[in-house]
Amino acid sequence: MPRGWVEPAGGGQDRRPAVPVGCQHGPVFYVDLPTGVRVARPSDYDVIAPVVDAWWGRPILDALPRLFLDHFHSTSLAAEGGTPSDGSSLRGFLVGFPSPSIPGEAYIHFVGIAPKARGSGLGRALYQCFFAAARDAGCRAVSAVTGPVNAPSIAFHRAMGFTASVPVPDYNGPGHDLVTFRRPL
Ligand SMILES: CC(C)(COP(=O)(O)OP(=O)(O)OC[C@H]1O[C@@H](n2cnc3c(N)ncnc32)[C@H](O)[C@@H]1OP(=O)(O)O)[C@@H](O)C(=O)NCCC(=O)NCCS
Repeated sequence: MPRGWVEPAGGGQDRRPAVPVGCQHGPVFYVDLPTGVRVARPSDYDVIAPVVDAWWGRPILDALPRLFLDHFHSTSLAAEGGTPSDGSSLRGFLVGFPSPSIPGEAYIHFVGIAPKARGSGLGRALYQCFFAAARDAGCRAVSAVTGPVNAPSIAFHRAMGFTASVPVPDYNGPGHDLVTFRRPL
């Protein structure tokens, strides 16, 4: 039986974690957040999913299935105040988490800012909140990836202190090259 799992009294099918596996960051991840920025909720998926393809300018929704908001909302962020022209009640969001498998590592899976809200420091603000919380949770490095065609994302990550790799061939399987980013915390 894997460590950390116990058979419930009397046996049966139900297996419960003896410790909250993957929750070493505890129930509170963020302490102070700027006005308008809050911890994400599972229901944010319903206002994020309809706009990501438009915000990215290409089909990208397949890379953000609902599981990311269902299971990583407590370490993810939402910026409220979106307008009808943003197509969402959110101005931006960040989906990230401390790695449950690699101690000391955090990962940012997605960050999106509504086109009209770009260039005003919101992306930087969301990243800085995540960096501080991940550091408090014991993380010493944060990583991310992006498509080689996403020059704005590469420029943004460099501006945020990440080192960018050259495109890694077949990173996400055959024909899916990606640029990887890493930043110490
Ligand atoms: C990339 C993105 C998140 C940036 O968000 P943003 O709120 O506009 O960024 P900020 O205003 O906080 O800028 C932070 C820094 O990044 C730099 N930056 C942001 N966008 C840039 C761009 N297109 N070109 C060059 N630099 C850029 C800014 O100059 C700034 O650097 P500085 O503080 O040293 O001046 C946003 O453009 C976006 O949502 N793009 C579509 C989704 C996407 O590609 N996400 C990333 C991959 S998951």
